[in-house]
Amino acid sequence: MQAIELQAPGGIDNLRRVERPMPEPGRQEMIIKVKATALNYRDVEIARGSYHTAFALPLIPLSDGVGEVVAVGAEVTRFKVGDRVCGTFWQRWVGGSFAMAEPSYQRGGPVDGLLSAFARLDEQAAVLAPSHLSDVEAATLPCAAVTAWHALFTEGQLKPGETVLSLGTGGVSLFAVQFAAAAGARVIVTSSSDDKLTRAKALGAHDGINYRSDPDWATAVLTLTGGRGADHIIEVGGPQSFEQSLKAAARGAQINVIGYLGGSNGSINPLDIFRRQVTARGIPVGSRESFEAMNRALAANRLRPVIDRVFPWLEAAAAFHHLEHGSPFGKVVLDHTQ
Ligand SMILES: NC(=O)c1ccc[n+]([C@@H]2O[C@H](COP(=O)([O-])OP(=O)(O)OC[C@H]3O[C@@H](n4cnc5c(N)ncnc54)[C@H](OP(=O)(O)O)[C@@H]3O)[C@@H](O)[C@H]2O)c1
Repeated sequence: MQAIELQAPGGIDNLRRVERPMPEPGRQEMIIKVKATALNYRDVEIARGSYHTAFALPLIPLSDGVGEVVAVGAEVTRFKVGDRVCGTFWQRWVGGSFAMAEPSYQRGGPVDGLLSAFARLDEQAAVLAPSHLSDVEAATLPCAAVTAWHALFTEGQLKPGETVLSLGTGGVSLFAVQFAAAAGARVIVTSSSDDKLTRAKALGAHDGINYRSDPDWATAVLTLTGGRGADHIIEVGGPQSFEQSLKAAARGAQINVIGYLGGSNGSINPLDIFRRQVTARGIPVGSRESFEAMNRALAANRLRPVIDRVFPWLEAAAAFHHLEHGSPFGKVVLDHTQ
């Protein structure tokens, strides 16, 4: 079967098309014919060698994708041939505490990802794709969407009327905007682009702040909330924006530490945490249980992921470059039927 491998670290141009043996299912595994895959910022970092963990190569990239089950092992009970399934990011985190996750079982590195014609999935590491979504849409769910869901609901217990501050308009942040708006929260989004702020408002955000033209954006958040601040913060900027996030936090706020897009240097005053009784929490995507709960909410609210652009899957390198440099609004997806 055809697959695309990352054969050397240090660049997207080290992605190579290869022939791999057709996978066979083990007793509790299934084979899917991959229909679509989607990119996350993590995949770009792994390809260029800047991810915080180095994985053994060659590696088939991409944690996110959807496919049709074409073969099942003798003991598979959760799925049958013909089902449409998404793989999960964590291969062994079914539910409960993150202690169950086992760090070496993440799809797309170190476990081979889905950028191939067929893939082998453990039946415990897959969920049914929401039936109202196309393959292109369903492919985007396993990492960014589950991360936003896990932060706001599994951990955050978000309530209607609370304020959610979502930083930037990347994949995780746009899912957070859609989920928070559907749950009846007040949603404030930041972006470097006024045009993207307008588009985020069309998705349900109530207010937008341009973090480039207004570097002291925390003051704008306080103004918008009558001095109260945000209850839940989707923090993807990292140490550089964390200081502003703390300033924008309401008393008892939850800061979900998800990414570090702005770089890894910065400083904070711990007194800002102390004074407002802020909780800062790392978010490691989420469990299968979170994925399944999220899919029920997607179906009930007919929510659809935002798609920026779809590439034929054998043009994966162009898609990686687009995510890295094309300033997309929404997910970048690979169509495996093209
Ligand atoms: N912990 C986890 O489980 C987890 C899961 C998924 C992702 N992540 C991490 O979370 C981050 C976001 O991932 P993603 O897939 O959503 O990325 P993405 O889709 O590539 O997001 C890029 C967007 O982030 C915004 N951005 C860039 N620098 C920023 C800054 N300094 N402050 C605020 N926003 C900034 C920009 O929005 P505008 O163009 O609107 O300015 C940019 O378009 C990455 O660091 C990723 O590695 C972590």
